[in-house]
Amino acid sequence: MTTNGGADLTRLIEPDRVHRSVYTDDAIFAREMEAIFQRAWVYVGHESQVKQPGDYCTALLGQQPLIMVRHSDGAVYVLYNRCAHRGALLCAKSRGNTGGAFGCSYHSWQYRTDGTLESIPLPAGYEGTRFSPGAADYNLKRAARVESYRGFVFASLSPSGPALAEFLGEARIALDNMCDRAPAGEVEIVPTCFRFIQHSNWKIFMENQLDALHPYVTHESTGRAAAELERQMMARKQKPPLEYHYLSAFTTPFNEWDKLQTVNYPYGHCMLQGYMGLRPRDPDTLAYEAVMREHYGAERTERILGVNIHHVLIYPGLSVQPALQQLRAARPLAPNRTLTEIWHFRLKGAPEAIYRRALAYYNLINSPSTMVNADDLENFWRCHQGLAADGGDWVSFHRNAGQDDEHDGVIASRRGTSEAPMRNQFRAWKQYLSSSEH
Ligand code: FES
Ligand SMILES: [Fe+2]
Repeated sequence: MTTNGGADLTRLIEPDRVHRSVYTDDAIFAREMEAIFQRAWVYVGHESQVKQPGDYCTALLGQQPLIMVRHSDGAVYVLYNRCAHRGALLCAKSRGNTGGAFGCSYHSWQYRTDGTLESIPLPAGYEGTRFSPGAADYNLKRAARVESYRGFVFASLSPSGPALAEFLGEARIALDNMCDRAPAGEVEIVPTCFRFIQHSNWKIFMENQLDALHPYVTHESTGRAAAELERQMMARKQKPPLEYHYLSAFTTPFNEWDKLQTVNYPYGHCMLQGYMGLRPRDPDTLAYEAVMREHYGAERTERILGVNIHHVLIYPGLSVQPALQQLRAARPLAPNRTLTEIWHFRLKGAPEAIYRRALAYYNLINSPSTMVNADDLENFWRCHQGLAADGGDWVSFHRNAGQDDEHDGVIASRRGTSEAPMRNQFRAWKQYLSSSEH
């Protein structure tokens, strides 16, 4: 099948299967970056990464390198990381403090942290030319739209489209619940993250996040080893640490995963119900719950801690785990290369033990060096290798197709292993790409 840059979308995306070229074709990838990642609201970073004036961090939105920076008046700006002189990247590092200005490493044009041009060397050289300092062309270009939701900063590189709150819709529970779990009502980012490059298409990663059919298979060996250790400890009358349960939960058999539910929202966002029952009754948890009740009262505390969500996808590139205070941002680099950032957060006002617990999950499950993530990465790579070959043209998303419940654009799966989340992501994918066709 020739794809003509993906123009023939109706032939590529069917309700229950998609053509493999959407994962491998260079022209389709280029269109995705423009139509999805450079138009939708994409996560840039958290406000606590830029606390002081001059603090900055960099992020990739689609193919566009950006800088998020705190200005002297306290406002956060998102600027293109591109000098207005001859185009050099201004910030090569992922974070730092630039003081009052960004200075270009090439010819020292200086920019204020709101992006406006501050000075150039030997300005007399421009006299009598068309160069005019103060004109927008000589400032750092700003992202078309920037909004923050409870400290999480998103940008859209398109001047039009839904406001952030409308875009997030029901998926905002991911950010709300993470913040609400903090007695102080907000989270603070841990300023370093894991960054690694998956040798596979970004959609393969996103599809995996809510794939309840895979853990029992992919993570079976890890789960079995942890479960065995738990058994041995209990036989010795020792209480296994909670972290072991993060791993042994993967021994949950197919039929149990199938009892979970996914809820699939407009714009491609999806939610998977929790399965680990992360509410133990150990002294650390009880101490934390007591602090929560002081701040919120008993009833609201129950409502906050009773939210049982494992993952929320904020399409196209964000996977949030509110109960474990972490998120993963997928930043596509090429059809077969995806940069993934894994960030985690502290709950402001919560005891240190609660942070340590989330950190253990971060290190044991989401880190690229764990047995769990390594198993996923192997499968992502295998998928991409197979999809790039000529062994077949279609990817199947038939599981429970036509058997989910849909009301007002929200699709609730009747089965945990329904491929409804994948179908929902492609519903959004098709909408983004169709509406960008000229
Ligand atoms: S390229 Fe930046 S100052 Fe010349
Ligand atoms: Fe997995």
